[in-house]
Amino acid sequence: RPCINLAVAGFGTVGTGLAKAIRENAEWIGRRLGKTLRIHTVLVRDIHKNRSFIPDPDTAFTSDPETFLNTPDIDIVVELMGGTGLAHEIIARSLTMGRSVVTANKALLAEHGSELFALAARNHAGLYYEASVAGGIPIVQTLKESLAGNRIRNLLGILNGTANYILSEMTAKGLDFQDALAMAQAKGYAEADPTFDIQGIDAAHKLTLLIRLAHGQDYPFADLAVTGISQVQALDIALGGEFGYKLKLLAQVSHTSGKLLAGVFPAFIAKNHMLAKVEGPFNSILLEGNVVGPIMLYGQGAGDLPTGSAVLADIMALAKNPTTPNNTGFPEPVLPAADILDPML
Ligand code: NAP
Ligand code: HSE
Repeated sequence: RPCINLAVAGFGTVGTGLAKAIRENAEWIGRRLGKTLRIHTVLVRDIHKNRSFIPDPDTAFTSDPETFLNTPDIDIVVELMGGTGLAHEIIARSLTMGRSVVTANKALLAEHGSELFALAARNHAGLYYEASVAGGIPIVQTLKESLAGNRIRNLLGILNGTANYILSEMTAKGLDFQDALAMAQAKGYAEADPTFDIQGIDAAHKLTLLIRLAHGQDYPFADLAVTGISQVQALDIALGGEFGYKLKLLAQVSHTSGKLLAGVFPAFIAKNHMLAKVEGPFNSILLEGNVVGPIMLYGQGAGDLPTGSAVLADIMALAKNPTTPNNTGFPEPVLPAADILDPML
């Protein structure tokens, strides 16, 4: 079978999850694609680090970004290092070289998405990002393709696995906030800077990507109303519980007077609400399309294999159809909000 060479920047939680998924399902992937996926080159900070899993004996590890970027015969670049510095440079330069990119980096896309998508379009390259929102839940593909004929009316979700894990552990076991956070970090759910998780910033990054997919708008990140869970105390959760409520970190897009309103905030929801049943690192998104009606997606929002699964899906989509990537799935020019918000049903 022909081989698709991958250059993977970052081999931590998600990079390792991707490599495990490729190894585990190699035969199945080969049959579906008619091609073999090979992790050719990996960029890490420390090549001497003891790693529990390596993709292949002949995978080249480097800590030099120039060596990584100039490796010949790469078909797809996969950015799984995070941050908005070197990751930005790697994605921008790869796209400029006409190489398609898969990334899980919602912070980068929330801040620099417009520029990077334009760069991808100019260079006829793909920029895919299924893993950037809600880990293993296929929400990007759902909005981009499956619900393409719908106007999305409302969206409410749990978009951060770490925060949901912390609140679940505090609720079920009465755990202290800091202990629950340390456990989420040990399990690989948290961002390198966990304040992004607990202050609601990570969920807000994801929300800006969902708004772009659902409404074709670049909602300014600074305009999002964002409140996290760092001030939550065990007593708050216990008192809410007495009255039949659970505390969840929610992300919401709604509308008023023809304008979108979006934010991330902790809220008490009734224990019998569907989102109240979402526990641990799981995420869920409730949305309403004007043709399809309500939809609920549910799955693991963080962690090595769930996120690796989403990255793998993007790699396979690009490997299958390398010449006509579909980056945003959204028509140009962007629709005005008032038009979108007109209820049809
Ligand atoms: P991680 O475990 O901290 O791994 C980061 C990897 O990038 C490590 O291999 C590290 O090298 C490498 N790296 C970092 N800075 C580097 C630099 N300056 N030069 C070279 N290599 C560098 O991170 P992660 O949890 O896998 O997350 C990666 C990305 O996926 C982030 O954008 C994150 O937001 C996103 N994401 C994560 C999850 C999740 O559940 N963890 C889910 C969805 C999306 P060393 O190994 O040498 O330290
Ligand atoms: N830190 C993120 C979370 C990783 O906990 O949801 C998945 O995007």
